[in-house]
Amino acid sequence: MQKAVKDYIRTIADFPHEGIMFRDVTTLFADARGFRMAVDQLLHPFAGERIDKVVGLEARGFILGGAIAHQLSVGFVPVRKKGKLPGRTISQDYQLEYGEAIMEVHDDALEAGERVLIVDDLLATGGTCEAGIRLVERLGGEVIGCAFVIDLPDLGGRARLDALGMRVHALCA
Ligand code: PRP
Ligand code: ADE
Repeated sequence: MQKAVKDYIRTIADFPHEGIMFRDVTTLFADARGFRMAVDQLLHPFAGERIDKVVGLEARGFILGGAIAHQLSVGFVPVRKKGKLPGRTISQDYQLEYGEAIMEVHDDALEAGERVLIVDDLLATGGTCEAGIRLVERLGGEVIGCAFVIDLPDLGGRARLDALGMRVHALCA
């Protein structure tokens, strides 16, 4: 039987904290067939639709988003944690499971009206992605969908993005 995307992902217990079952996608990225399959499947529902930019969420969303942007021949825009981008930025704070964090994007990264696909490896509480959506929308972009390799629905991210009216695509749980 051929392996599915899920079969390339390993779970590491108690990382980075006790009790967390960490989904490690480095094993997916390291496998040529697995990585290609993930990129193709992430794009599948959006085939034939106009996408002007891919926005990747730090850090693993950069790896997937870069490959997807290259496949589509469109530009890639990084949404980064606070203090990493060199140019003028806009910031968006968001809730972590415990505490708060801030994501940023360059203020000239998108043109108004551009259609954007947001990409990350994993959807948990949805806080990171919601911050990315807000940043894109504040720049005048239109988020046409959010694509993830893994959705952990028990953590509420799917429901949170559904409540925003977002189109969410995930390859496995
Ligand atoms: C992970 C994952 C997502 C985010 C999802 O990143 O890659 O970006 O968490 O969580 P959320 O849905 O609850 O916001 P992490 O915080 O581990 O950062 P890193 O990729 O920079 O290591
Ligand atoms: N981010 C939040 N929860 C995670 C998990 N279980 N594995 C990998 N990244 C995560």
